[in-house]
Amino acid sequence: MIKAIIEPFRIKMVEPIKLTTRDEREQLIETACFNPFLLRAEDVIIDLLTDSGTSAMSSDAWAALMRGDESYAGARSWYRFRDTVQDVFGFSHVIPTHQGRAAEHILFGIMAKPGCIIPNNTHFDTTRANIEYNGAEALDLPCKEAADPGTPHPFKGNIDTEALEKLVAEQADKIPLIMVTITNNSGGGQPVSMANIREVSRIARAAGIPFYIDACRFAENAHFIKRREEGYADTAPIDIAREMFSYADGCTMSAKKDAFANIGGFLCTNDAALAHQERNILILTEGFPTYGGLAGRDLEAIAVGLHEILDEHYLDYRLLSTRYVVKHLDDAGIPVLLPAGGHAVYLDARRFLPHIEPLQYPGQALAVELYIEAGIRCVEIGTLMFGLDPHTGEEHPARQELVRLAIPRRVYTQSHMDYVIEAIILVWERRNEIRGMRIVEAPQFLRHFTARLERL
Ligand code: F0G
Repeated sequence: MIKAIIEPFRIKMVEPIKLTTRDEREQLIETACFNPFLLRAEDVIIDLLTDSGTSAMSSDAWAALMRGDESYAGARSWYRFRDTVQDVFGFSHVIPTHQGRAAEHILFGIMAKPGCIIPNNTHFDTTRANIEYNGAEALDLPCKEAADPGTPHPFKGNIDTEALEKLVAEQADKIPLIMVTITNNSGGGQPVSMANIREVSRIARAAGIPFYIDACRFAENAHFIKRREEGYADTAPIDIAREMFSYADGCTMSAKKDAFANIGGFLCTNDAALAHQERNILILTEGFPTYGGLAGRDLEAIAVGLHEILDEHYLDYRLLSTRYVVKHLDDAGIPVLLPAGGHAVYLDARRFLPHIEPLQYPGQALAVELYIEAGIRCVEIGTLMFGLDPHTGEEHPARQELVRLAIPRRVYTQSHMDYVIEAIILVWERRNEIRGMRIVEAPQFLRHFTARLERL
């Protein structure tokens, strides 16, 4: 039997990549103040900054764009979108938004109040920011296995249910909702098991607290359950997805991830009174409830993408292609987060560059070198991103120094990934020559986006 896993699609349209030389890239990254966010995208050869909004749509999704009904109210495209979301997610109320954080903004604007605590396996930055913006506390309760980047565990994205149960027992009145992010992006794209989701639901329901899922990468999570959790090997990904959501009371979703869309998102709930309040805010900030922040054509593309993403052959290819990169790096002795997650590869910069102090940003130094070596763009998730306390102005080393290489869906082929692997190995071989960095100028909030740096 043939073992090779092929991309389960053919390429119909291509976008040329501009190739640059190493000397040009040295100059370009210096001009961008050693911050890959400040590069022009056309100067990047392989762009692994994010898997969000960067997917390649299918011919069906492009065809669906032409069907977009742009009526202000009650458009055909809205009904197609709503029915698809309900078919997969099962919630009674669907509120369309322009992307995930808009759904978070509406949800937490209503539910998060000063003094409240909202637990999650690990909050994504925008989720945390929206909670904190409303004066509440965003509490991360990752499972214990998540702390060690080197240990393989099938469901490192799990929430620590013991800690959650204790928190609920002591302070239930302060918890307006419990959240679980699938897969756990900030925790390395690691999946959450069905058993864990079920247990969170039990804890939440016993205490009368709503349980929400941050569903951005729900299809990848469903497929990890299929491949790793006992009892699911013969269940279709869509049925696993339906079961996951059946334990929850609502969800937030960015269609820029597991819906193959370039823009879009939604908020769901089973609570009619809450949905009424949410729609009122939606009208103020996003748009009429039958389009939210989206064009009719976007609603169509999302409806197509939500079904395509649950294709088992696609999901096999997706998880295996990420694992392929991780395996090659691990075999070469490169410190990489194990096991492979769904949407991204995470290098452990603390072990990659142990001679660089956290306050000299080893992750950023590594991201810069990957650009210079091969024109690869990726993002530091470490002290540059999380080290500054915006309230006190003090700087501390972050919990981990990671570099994330997020893989856009259906965009790059295996030979692109071979190129990435080779580039990382070349940087690994000259790691001792790499120096740390210093911030020249940075804002107080979300400084990694615009910080200007220089080499020490
Ligand atoms: N939740 C998670 C888990 C995410 O990964 C993201 C976005 C959001 C919410 C917000 O969604 O971007 O549509 O507003 N993650 C992107 C990333 C930006 O690169 O990981 P959005």
